Amino acid sequence: MSCYIIEGGSRLSGEVQISGAKNAVLPILAAAAARKESKIKNIPFLSDVSNTLRILEKLGMDIKAENNTVTTLNNINSTELDRDLSRKMRSSVLFLGALLGKYGEVTIYEPGGCQLGQRPIDIHLWAMEQLGAEIKQIDERIICKGKLKGTDITLPIISVGVTENIILAAINAKGTTIINNSAMEPEIDDLIKYLNESGSKITRRNNTIIIEESASDNYCEHSIMPDRIETGTYLGMAAATGGELFIKGADPGHIKFIISLFEKTGCIIKTDFSTIYIDAPSKLYSIPEVTTRPYPYFPTDMQPQLMAVLSKAEGSCIINETLFSARNKHIPELIKMGADIKEITSSQFEVTGVKKLIGAELYAKDLRGGAALVTAALSAEGESRIYGTEHIIRGYEALCAKLTAAGGKIKLIK
Ligand code: EPU
Repeated sequence: MSCYIIEGGSRLSGEVQISGAKNAVLPILAAAAARKESKIKNIPFLSDVSNTLRILEKLGMDIKAENNTVTTLNNINSTELDRDLSRKMRSSVLFLGALLGKYGEVTIYEPGGCQLGQRPIDIHLWAMEQLGAEIKQIDERIICKGKLKGTDITLPIISVGVTENIILAAINAKGTTIINNSAMEPEIDDLIKYLNESGSKITRRNNTIIIEESASDNYCEHSIMPDRIETGTYLGMAAATGGELFIKGADPGHIKFIISLFEKTGCIIKTDFSTIYIDAPSKLYSIPEVTTRPYPYFPTDMQPQLMAVLSKAEGSCIINETLFSARNKHIPELIKMGADIKEITSSQFEVTGVKKLIGAELYAKDLRGGAALVTAALSAEGESRIYGTEHIIRGYEALCAKLTAAGGKIKLIK
C-alpha cells in the first residue's frame, strides 16, 4: 500500500503553479466523444483523466497525448462504455448525454467515484427522458436510445453533472433546449466555451442555459481553466502552516468566497489577474458558521480542507454540509491527530480549535478528505503516514513535487 510520509511543522513558502481543473477536463473529454477533432491543452495528469482517456480509446477514438495536451480524433465504433473504467469515476455518467445526443444510443453503467453518501443518477436519466430518450435497465447495463428533441427542462435540484449532461445531449438535439435552475459552476462555463469554440450555440444567463440547434462541428483548440479547488486547497495549506505563498496560474475570480473565508481567519490575501498571494499569521481565528452551497457560495469540495485548517484556529465553527450526506470520513482521522470535532449529525459538525495537532497514521477515504489530511499533517507536530493515496492522486497533479518546492516535507512511498 502506498502512503505519503509527511513531517509536519514546516511553513510553506514560495510558489505553487495551479494545474488544469479536474472537474472541467472530465466533461470536456466526454464532449470530445461528440465532436470530430479537438486539441485540448492544460490537461492535468490525474488518474481520473487517464481513465477517461482509456474510456475514449475503448470507444474507438484516436488519442494523442503529449505533455499536457491531448488531441482527440473521433472514430467511435462503439456506444457502450467500459464497465470497469466507468465504475471508477462519477464523471463517466457524462458520456450518457454526449453519446446519446450524437449517436442516438448509449449503454452506461452505474458510475463510481468518491463515496460521499447516496449519489444517485436518477435526475440524469429523467433529464434524458425529457429530451425524448427511452431508458431500459438490463442487469447492470443502462441502455438509452432515442432521437433527441430540444425542450424546456427545470432542474428539481441544482446539479453540476445533470446540467453538463443536458448540455452535452442537447447540442445534437433537434430544436432549442432551455435549462432552468441550472448549476453555475465555472467548470460548466468552460464546457460551454469548448463547445462554442467547436461550433455550438450555447448561452448562459445566471441559472438559465439556452442550447440552440447547430450542425457545426469544427476543429477547435481549448485550454482547460485553472483548478479552483486545487487553488483553494493550497490556500488552506498555506493558512494551516502559517505560510506565505504565491499561487500562480489561478483564477482569483472563481474563488472569491473561499478567499473571503481565509481573510476572516486572519490571512492577508492579495490577487492580480492570475496570481494569489497569501500571508498567513502563526495563529488563525475561527469563523462562526460555514455552509456548503452550489457556486458562487462555499463549495463542498473545500469543506474537509477548511475543517483541517480550522482545527487549529482560535474559537469554534459550525460547518453545515448540504450537498452530500456522508462527506465526513476525514473527521475520525483528524480526531486521531488531536482535533476537537463533534459530529452533531452526519452533515453538521462543530470544530473547536486546539493548540496543536500531532502526526498520526491516517487513512484517506476520498479525494477531498485526503487533501484535508495532507493539510492537517503539514501543520502537525511530528510525522504522519497517510494511506489511501489512490484517492488523492485522482485530483491533485504532482502534489509531492509542488509541496516540496514550497518547503513542505512530503514523500510518496510506494
Ligand atoms: N443528485 C441526485 N440525483 C442525480 C444527480 C445528483 O440526487 O441524478 C444529487 C447528488 O447526490 C448531490 C447533489 O445532487 O447531493 C448535487 O450533486 P451534483 O450532481 O451537483 O454533483 P456531481 O455532478 O456528481 C460534481 C463534482 C463533485 C462536486 C459536485 C458538487 C465533477 C466530476 N464532480 O459532482 O466533485 O462535489 O459537483 O459541486 O464535476 C470532487 O471533485 O471531489 C467532487 C466530488
